[in-house]
Amino acid sequence: MVMVSATEMINKAHDGHYAVAAFNINNMEWIKAVLAGCQKANSPVMLGVSEGAGKYMCGFKNVVDMVRDIHDQMGITVPVALHLDHGTYEGTKACIEAGFTSVMFDGSHYSFEENMEKSKELIALAHSKGCSIECEVGGIGGTEDGVTSNGELADPKECATIAALGVDFLAAGIGNIHGVYPDNWAGLNFDRLEEIQKAVNGKPLVLHGGSGIPYDMVHKAITMGVSKVNVNTELQLVFAKATREYIEAGKDQAGKGYDPRKLLKPGADAITAQVIEMVNSFGCADKA
Ligand code: 13P
Repeated sequence: MVMVSATEMINKAHDGHYAVAAFNINNMEWIKAVLAGCQKANSPVMLGVSEGAGKYMCGFKNVVDMVRDIHDQMGITVPVALHLDHGTYEGTKACIEAGFTSVMFDGSHYSFEENMEKSKELIALAHSKGCSIECEVGGIGGTEDGVTSNGELADPKECATIAALGVDFLAAGIGNIHGVYPDNWAGLNFDRLEEIQKAVNGKPLVLHGGSGIPYDMVHKAITMGVSKVNVNTELQLVFAKATREYIEAGKDQAGKGYDPRKLLKPGADAITAQVIEMVNSFGCADKA
């Protein structure tokens, strides 16, 4: 099966009141582990690639080739979309060109007018290539240089304007942040979510920063119009914990050091287990 755009899977999720997970990938182990979990859970999935991860994996073209080949070699049959996460203007164009099946243009750091103009152009370009596209209104908070900012709240009027450009799904801040949530986090702002969903006429919404939000909050957000939940940090945490435990248990080969395939397996298995737990929780298991 070929990789698909995310439009159909996200629209189905919106109608069916569940959310598709977008898991960030960083290397071969991540790709294999996430695909294995989604295939086992019979869940559609989006593989998110940040521009940094794209660079790490030797460029967008290589990411497309790697994901496609691994996907085929593993005999994956669930719908898979390869998605650029928080793309720049140039990066979004490059990914559409390279063969990504979905992209996110994050113009939230531009003035609203510039974000709108660039979003409009990129929506037309993505759709001309059969690619789905997500745009962002307002910023999503997070941790930078050790300082955690509060989650921002997107302006419903701005959301309505970008939604009307024909974007397929919209990222809008509702108090969510990337990375680990601080102890004093105020939680998701459901009043703002309700206003935004109304303003965008039921367009599917995206919840960034999906790691560490209590599942009952995520479930409530899903019933209110969130149809895609992004997860990165959670996979990093379970991978690191399992790898650390493997090393601490001293499971090297006496006198030979570590076999990388054995060293990375517990972390990869931990990712697969986490993926299965999350797709079940978001309701997209058995929706392939
Ligand atoms: P977390 O790292 O908080 O899971 O956020 C992921 C994300 O939103 C990617 O865009």
